[in-house]
Amino acid sequence: MDTESDKPHNAHEKIEKNIGLMAVLIAVVVSFGGLAEIVPLMYQADTIKPLPGVKPYPALQLAGRDVYVREGCYNCHSQMVRTLRFETERYGHYSLAGESVYDHPFQWGSKRTGPDLARVGGRYSDDWHRIHLIDPRAVVPESNMPSFPWLEHNTIDGQAITAHMRTLKTIGDPYTDDEIANAAKDVAGKTELDAVVAYLQALGRHAPRGN
Ligand code: HEC
Repeated sequence: MDTESDKPHNAHEKIEKNIGLMAVLIAVVVSFGGLAEIVPLMYQADTIKPLPGVKPYPALQLAGRDVYVREGCYNCHSQMVRTLRFETERYGHYSLAGESVYDHPFQWGSKRTGPDLARVGGRYSDDWHRIHLIDPRAVVPESNMPSFPWLEHNTIDGQAITAHMRTLKTIGDPYTDDEIANAAKDVAGKTELDAVVAYLQALGRHAPRGN
């Protein structure tokens, strides 16, 4: 018997028996939830504005970052200090979104075979890093980090780094024309080892101090 009070029930039944319609409605509900969470972050100032002092990577550091990504350092090292007491005691101030505005893509990660590197800048000397990257066991006998001896022998390609900076500018990184014009000169004669060390030494330099 089809009475007025059966109608909502019929609508429910129609959706449950029609998998196509149900899939579409599920997609609508799920994307509404996702959008409500994600879209505000895209406009919220403290997630899209660089912290004071944070600038696009200078040519040599950018080259070092490229090597870092190529060598897969992120497979063992995160670059995000969590907001937990034992993390901030060990590494320093927890990471803020405004530190990685010019990281494309960011290197936050979660795999930690080695320590987090978000605050490693300035912790060791350049020489320590050079020795450590060529042969980690020369400075940390129990280390199981792989050696990267070839970095010392490969030189940086000035043209490639210039092109990289130009590309980053098109997606909004505020490089000046001078910085791009001087990039090849800035990396001339530098090795990949010089570049990675410059990159590591800059990590976390603009983070807030303290815990
Ligand atoms: C297979 C895992 C692994 C990979 C890949 C790896 N590391 Fe490590 N790294 C470690 C481990 C384990 C330690 C701790 C022992 C030591 O200091 O050598 C470490 C330590 C470090 C440290 C010292 C951190 C500190 O606070 O004492 C730096 C800097 C570092 N790695 C940089 C790099 C860079 C740059 C790369 C890529 C070129 C890299 N690592 C690739 C495992 C790895």
